[in-house]
Amino acid sequence: MFEQIKEASAYIQERVNGFVPQVGIILGTGLGALINDVDVEFTLEYSDIPYFPIATVETHKGRLVFGTLEGKKVVVMQGRFHYYEGYSMQEVVFPVRIMKLLGIEKLMISNAAGSINAGYKVADLVIINDHINLQPANPLVGPNIDELGPRWPDMSEPYDLGLVERGLAICKQENISAHSGVYVSVPGPNLETKAEYRYLRTIGADLVGMSTVPEVIVAAHMGIPTFAVSVITDIGVPELVKKVVIEDIIAAAMTAEPKLALLFRKMLAHEA
Ligand code: HPA
Repeated sequence: MFEQIKEASAYIQERVNGFVPQVGIILGTGLGALINDVDVEFTLEYSDIPYFPIATVETHKGRLVFGTLEGKKVVVMQGRFHYYEGYSMQEVVFPVRIMKLLGIEKLMISNAAGSINAGYKVADLVIINDHINLQPANPLVGPNIDELGPRWPDMSEPYDLGLVERGLAICKQENISAHSGVYVSVPGPNLETKAEYRYLRTIGADLVGMSTVPEVIVAAHMGIPTFAVSVITDIGVPELVKKVVIEDIIAAAMTAEPKLALLFRKMLAHEA
């Protein structure tokens, strides 16, 4: 596995003329517009990169974009991989491991999520401060890749709490309705039953989604400080649950998109 990771990153390094990204960014469902703000230098199709999984979800494009945003060198994954699409966990996290080899020092992630906290509204931002992993597999299962991190990585702060505080302060300053909370990652692809939402609330989560946690686990394994933000696209508080279709989720994500893009830009601008 490590050989494949090295080979793919060597291929990329060659294509981007030695461009070294400082920050890796993964954009979630309906949340891809931040890319329009990037001063793009290089774009690589996933399908051209050795061993790279290929995006299947219609709402996700499959490219790696290199450029500058708020004075920072970034690599943006336009289109991410979900376990429910049939990828192995190793495939889901492959790009994050590549980003590490390319040089990133921080990871920023967005996603769409359902709220199970009665205090959240559709299109609110929630800065993730911790997670519960209910995915059926873990990307670190199998021989440990010692070059990337330890066998039993610490998970006491998978989301950098300094970045969480900074994110909340930026939202306050910019008048963006934001919270911080615990994200639970489920396999999907179906949304939850009312009983499941109630259960997820009982075990301590504020919001639920089908992504992010595998990527955050490998980022923690590799010691990369991570900042992750969810956009609330639907309400999973049992008394308020309505029938939801993907179009509603994408519409809610698009409503919140400008706020999310502003938050990400301000976070990048703040870094020395
Ligand atoms: N549940 C799980 N995943 C989601 C949801 C949800 O309600 N909304 C967006 N992604």
